[in-house]
Amino acid sequence: YSKEDSVDDYLFKIVLIGDSAVGKSNLLARFARNEFNPNSKSTIGVEFQTQKIQINGKEVKAQIWDTAGQERFRAVTSAYYRGAVGALLVYDITRRRTFDNINRWLKELHTHCDMNVVTILVGNKSDLEDGREVSMDEGKSLAEAEGLFFMETSALDSSNVNRAFQMVVKEIY
Ligand code: GTP
Ligand code: MG
Repeated sequence: YSKEDSVDDYLFKIVLIGDSAVGKSNLLARFARNEFNPNSKSTIGVEFQTQKIQINGKEVKAQIWDTAGQERFRAVTSAYYRGAVGALLVYDITRRRTFDNINRWLKELHTHCDMNVVTILVGNKSDLEDGREVSMDEGKSLAEAEGLFFMETSALDSSNVNRAFQMVVKEIY
């Protein structure tokens, strides 16, 4: 094998999960294409993007999977999670209900994945400070209690989006 072939040795499957409209698809669009869609529709079925990431000067590939938060639009659950080594568990800091549901998503993740799947809790829409319903401390505390990484992001203004994905990949790697 040539040296280039070794790139394919590192293809990590990462799943995005969380309630509908928390911004999963826009986080992926921001990360993979540097795009944001203010009028995006609910995801139907499953989509994924493969993205190259530099970790300590080495190139790794992340295959990031995205499905619907709403049950009726979701991909087959077991297939969605199969082989995942990382997960972004996303809520919307302006809707407490999406934060309250994190425990449900965590349960589902652990039903289908290995306990040591690298997981980051992501509080998205940090640009909407005026509408905030979940404090940064609450996010941090939950993450600590559950042994997750934590970050607040904004797919709209890009803050921490690359960092959040990179943190997961780095830890897997
Ligand atoms: P489902 O596919 O239904 O599960 O939803 P989703 O989690 O993929 O949400 P999506 O990315 O489609 O975003 C839902 C809405 O929130 C859209 O109107 C987005 O433009 C908006 N949105 C996403 N991320 C952000 C953000 O960081 N800030 C703000 N202000 N709006 C955002
Ligand atoms: Mg979506």
